[in-house]
Amino acid sequence: MTKIIAIINQKGGVGKTTTTVNLGAALAEKGKKVLLFDMDAQSNMTTHLGVGVQEGDFQEGIEDVEYPSSYDILKGSKTVAECVVHRSKNLDVVPSSLSLSAADLELGGVVGRELILKRALTNIQDNYDYIIIDCPPALGLLSLNALAAADSVIIPVQSEYLALHGVRQLLDTIEQVKSVFNPVLRVMGVLICLHDIRKKLARAVSDTIRTYFGDLVFETVIKTNVALAEAPSDGKTIFEYAPRERGADDYRELANEIESGKF
Ligand SMILES: Nc1ncnc2c1ncn2[C@@H]1O[C@H](COP(=O)(O)OP(=O)(O)OP(=O)(O)O)[C@@H](O)[C@H]1O
Ligand SMILES: [Mg+2]
Repeated sequence: MTKIIAIINQKGGVGKTTTTVNLGAALAEKGKKVLLFDMDAQSNMTTHLGVGVQEGDFQEGIEDVEYPSSYDILKGSKTVAECVVHRSKNLDVVPSSLSLSAADLELGGVVGRELILKRALTNIQDNYDYIIIDCPPALGLLSLNALAAADSVIIPVQSEYLALHGVRQLLDTIEQVKSVFNPVLRVMGVLICLHDIRKKLARAVSDTIRTYFGDLVFETVIKTNVALAEAPSDGKTIFEYAPRERGADDYRELANEIESGKF
């Protein structure tokens, strides 16, 4: 059975994209077939994977490049299969583009607009063990589509001041999606990201997170690691950029924890 996971937190910069890319790559390294789906108009996941960008194009950004993307899928003009880019062994990608920022408005009047992604994935999902969706830092239509299509959710939180700010609202949204569109949706786990082991505050905050969420928190903690922040500018996953760095080990451990079936 394909697992469809939405990586979501409306708070910005908590490690959603880094987790999507490197968890996906860790699972692919373990021999799982993985599709990474970029649902964010910022297209950070797309650039991080060096997809849709020609060599030497990094300074230019990818805004001007036309390629089939998640926007076309939401608009109904392309199938998922038409947008899939084969990235590397076991790892496929559906890129996004800046046009996605208009989707919320453009689809405003469309009946069933929250279910477009779910329907679009049905034809292709059996080709994969995991489909992982990188959500934008907002709880708008794009995130609702991701939640309606997913069977589980990973919530990255940063072990910093205000880590849990907005989490109640996120859990309420998940409950609403569950009752209206997607009864099987569940929170797989809360993932502590960008954890600076040298900071006392980080330890205190991660204790608070564990008290609040209990067993729902992954044992794996993604520690702050410079290589994880550097890899995107090379268009590489951590396993391609620095496979022996701690960041690679952390994401391997997360993949193992998910594969163990405990979550
Ligand atoms: N464990 C880590 N160690 C060091 N840097 C990290 C780590 N995780 C993420 N980063 C860096 O922190 C920044 C934010 O991470 P990321 O883009 O994954 O967050 P996000 O939640 O997807 O952000 P947004 O809400 O804007 O989509 C990025 O520059 C990323 O490279
Ligand atoms: Mg992101």
